[in-house]
Amino acid sequence: MFRTHTNGELSLKNINENVTLSGWVQTIRDKGFMVWIDLRDRYGITQLVFDEDRTPKEILENAKKLGREFVIQVNGKVIERASKNPKIPTGEIEILVEDLKILNASELPPFTIEDETDGGEELRMKYRYLDIRRNPVKDKLIFRHKMAQKVRNYLSDQNFIEVETPVLIKSTPEGARDFVVPSRMNPGQFYALPQSPQTFKQLLMIGGMDRYFQIVKCFRDEDLRADRQPEFTQIDCEMAFVEQEDVLEIFEGMTATLLKDITGKDFGKFPRMTFADAMKKYGNDKPDIRFGMEFCELNDLVKGKDFKIFDDAELVVGINVEGCPDYTRKQIDALIDWVKRPQIGASGMVWIKYQHDGVITSSVNKFYSEEDLKRIAEKFGAKPGDLIFVMSGDAHKVRTQLSALRMELGNQLGLRKGDEFAPLWIVDFPLLEWDEETGRYHAMHHPFTSPKPEDVHLLETDPGKARANAYDLILNGNEIGGGSVRIFDKDLQAKMFNLLGFTKEDAEAQFGFLMNAFQYGAPPHAGLALGFDRLVAILNGNEVIRDYIAFPKNNSGRDVMIDAPSPIADEQLDELELKLDLKA
Ligand code: AMO
Repeated sequence: MFRTHTNGELSLKNINENVTLSGWVQTIRDKGFMVWIDLRDRYGITQLVFDEDRTPKEILENAKKLGREFVIQVNGKVIERASKNPKIPTGEIEILVEDLKILNASELPPFTIEDETDGGEELRMKYRYLDIRRNPVKDKLIFRHKMAQKVRNYLSDQNFIEVETPVLIKSTPEGARDFVVPSRMNPGQFYALPQSPQTFKQLLMIGGMDRYFQIVKCFRDEDLRADRQPEFTQIDCEMAFVEQEDVLEIFEGMTATLLKDITGKDFGKFPRMTFADAMKKYGNDKPDIRFGMEFCELNDLVKGKDFKIFDDAELVVGINVEGCPDYTRKQIDALIDWVKRPQIGASGMVWIKYQHDGVITSSVNKFYSEEDLKRIAEKFGAKPGDLIFVMSGDAHKVRTQLSALRMELGNQLGLRKGDEFAPLWIVDFPLLEWDEETGRYHAMHHPFTSPKPEDVHLLETDPGKARANAYDLILNGNEIGGGSVRIFDKDLQAKMFNLLGFTKEDAEAQFGFLMNAFQYGAPPHAGLALGFDRLVAILNGNEVIRDYIAFPKNNSGRDVMIDAPSPIADEQLDELELKLDLKA
């Protein structure tokens, strides 16, 4: 038997018991006549003590030869510690070692395996298995496991059935590039890895499964960010004989259950906002509503005062930073520079300061009298101590820019607290969006999303105006999920493909299987998928999903530990009948 107990469970209750423990050597303190070792496993740390009076001489000598991360097994007696450590659960006891066995030696690890480590990001990624021994990483994986358990229980209790769908499939249109896999048995042909199980879950509804879910890997070849990985996990769901409301209710219930578990608070009904309102109030379809700074449009107050920039703008819009700490001119200038960076792309920004003495001043005093500024401040509901920022230009662009500023200020002013949660549904998304580059419409969610029944007629006349029965779940300014009511009528689906620029033949080649299935009694159905990595990270107070994935990819999509992707052998290429002609 390798152990009678783990390293996280012994206490004063076990005094005088003879125990066997196994684990990794975290630290060694050698005082000559005495040696202390911190022994670690997933469950915690237990202090081992070897001393010249009470430990056999040869064991003490062996203890002195141990190195960090050696794997050992010890046998000994639980004794009370002279100097206790209240910070760890086993801090009142130690093990007086009577026998020591080295199970495996270890090279000196490339970084210290402690909560605060000296290892940089890249090094820790290369030795991810060592990083996983550290509490901050290990705890995140355990948290993820607990959330997965709760999700499975919740959905199983609601009659959902977990069904696995294939990984070697045909392209799914979620809007990213596919990862493809060549087929040896069908030379020149490729599978695509699923961007999501979208079509399969719809087929499961036609198959009568009624309620499906799957915690499933999805693959998207897209540019990476803190909240994106090329392979990530969805909680993917679909339901038959339901309307939008039914789907929202189930997944609001699920999210509220997780939130209650973490915060102890009831979240009640989640607020809802239409896409149009979200864009108008926050310039963003995933607003962080943990803090205010709602947009206030100023066209009616600022035009016609000879300030050309505002006169020429389609939209003049601002935010009020309430009770803003007295920003110096330098700080304000830094923010102006920040919005002018190419990533944001603003041409400039106007500020209006409502001073504590009641005087209102601004960077455009030349054009606007104090009376004018007062009217603007009133529209914002501003008070002494507030600071207003105003931007102008093309409506869509300026909203996006102001939204970026709002988030930056939220971060700078500490308004985006990891332990506060603000869920929100965004509903009534547009069905289509116009892509300037390709000169055609794209499905805003995906091509299987149904238009609102009252907007179906717009497909003939003004498709860009049609709204979809689509919804996103937002948590703390992050899109954690999205879904829609699906088209289940073959003709409407064909019309959608047509609108999206598919020829009849293309649609048939790519989605014929689904259109066919629609002929055999497709029930009305709807569903959604939550990004599990994002959900877990945010629930744990973070936004970087990489930390919640056991073996993540770096920003260039590489696994630096196993060194993938990598070239394959010529024989493999031959077998696949692939010829590589890489351009230098
Ligand atoms: P969607 O494309 O909105 O919908 O994806 C659902 C959720 O998955 C998460 N997500 C990601 N997480 C990490 N890395 C990525 N690269 C990544 N891409 C997406 C997001 C997102 O909200 N089939 C539809 C769902 C449906 O209609 O039922 C779909 O996949 O949190």
